[in-house]
Amino acid sequence: MFPSNLPNASKQFSSLDDVLNALKGMKDDPLANAGTNIVISRGNPGAKLLLIGEAPGPQENIQGKPFVGPAGQLLDKILKAGSFDPDRDVYITNSVFRMPPGEDGKSFRKPNDQEIDYYRPFVFEIIRSIDPLVILLTGNVACQSVLKKTGITSLRGQWTQVEGHWSMPIFHPSYLLRNQSREPGSPKSMMWDDIREIRRKYDELRS
Ligand code: URA
Repeated sequence: MFPSNLPNASKQFSSLDDVLNALKGMKDDPLANAGTNIVISRGNPGAKLLLIGEAPGPQENIQGKPFVGPAGQLLDKILKAGSFDPDRDVYITNSVFRMPPGEDGKSFRKPNDQEIDYYRPFVFEIIRSIDPLVILLTGNVACQSVLKKTGITSLRGQWTQVEGHWSMPIFHPSYLLRNQSREPGSPKSMMWDDIREIRRKYDELRS
């Protein structure tokens, strides 16, 4: 595995399966003692759209797949609004691969800097193995992991390059669940603008 936590280490694994197997075998990660399961990905490994979220929540911890709870249901709706089939057109993963447990041992919390740093090399290995045309970074944790910066309100909707891949930060669906307004200028209305732009770029890059 990684001798040290090198964020942009060159490719260490020869295939996606090798990366997934290394993740599945992880025993010394910072959340290993949390008692939560390793949750890595869902979707199509051959997809040209890669979506990176934050960390598994309670539903994901139970089902072993990312974005299967309420945020995931909204995420699928957003992807479908951009005419992306979540099973066929997208590979979905996270920045942190176990649910960080909350203080009471039941609920969950946001991943901390140490956790994000630890899993970052694996996120980059997944990016290299999938080799997508477009990467979507949902929320601040994914921006911190991949871009090493946060500030989703100003980063969202802006294209940037990550190791030669077009990447766009977008709002996290959990944030949209807490902000239901569809008024012009609301987070939801910005998300619809973003998914249209993502579709445009994706079609342009595929043609
Ligand atoms: N939120 C995330 O960022 N990832 C998940 O897998 C679930 C909720």
